[in-house]
Amino acid sequence: MELLECVEKVIKERRSHRFYLDKPVEREKLEKMIELAMWAPSAMNRQQWFFVVVAGERLKRLINVIEKGYEYILPRLQMFFAETPKVIDQTKRFFKSLGNAPAAVFAYYTPTGDDYSDVQSVSAAIQNMLLAAHAMGLGTCWMTGPVHVEDEINKALDIEGKKLVAVVTVGYPAKKPPVPPRRDVEKKVVWMVD
Ligand SMILES: Cc1cc2nc3c(=O)[nH]c(=O)nc-3n(C[C@H](O)[C@H](O)[C@H](O)COP(=O)(O)O)c2cc1C
Repeated sequence: MELLECVEKVIKERRSHRFYLDKPVEREKLEKMIELAMWAPSAMNRQQWFFVVVAGERLKRLINVIEKGYEYILPRLQMFFAETPKVIDQTKRFFKSLGNAPAAVFAYYTPTGDDYSDVQSVSAAIQNMLLAAHAMGLGTCWMTGPVHVEDEINKALDIEGKKLVAVVTVGYPAKKPPVPPRRDVEKKVVWMVD
């Protein structure tokens, strides 16, 4: 397969997974995700990312902290999904269980003095991680809801001096998620090329 075809396939076939099999993720696969995350571009090449990989019982114990993030995102869920309340219930269930994910990556940055660039650098790393996971048959879900309870999460993980950008659940998918269509594609780009 041509390189572009491979890239297109992995980008388009990656989905957000919210249901996982009761099967641990191999350490080597988690290591590969982290390795490829760190090949992302970063502002001023600061490589300011910092990852905490949590699995098994330790992750299960963290769920009662993470789930508190749901209350913070509820008003926006109600605004955006007023016509599809099922999505709100599904999100609640996901926050309360993490979909049975056997592992999660807590993606942080070490502040460099420019939060805007720091967040973008870590976000680029997260996307690399999601694509790498997908290429290895793993499912992931990028979650920012838990960031609302960052202080509690940091306390539980004994993390200081870092800013949480997202939590990424990782595991073998238990379901095939629907493909959310890309909306108004033509309205989201203006070509000024003459
Ligand atoms: C910055 C960001 C934050 C997100 N936060 C959440 C979250 O807190 N909970 C969740 O279930 N999904 C979250 N998602 C996943 C999106 O809901 C998902 O990407 C979107 O519905 C499109 O589906 P797809 O990833 O399968 O293409 C987040 C995605 C991004 C990029």
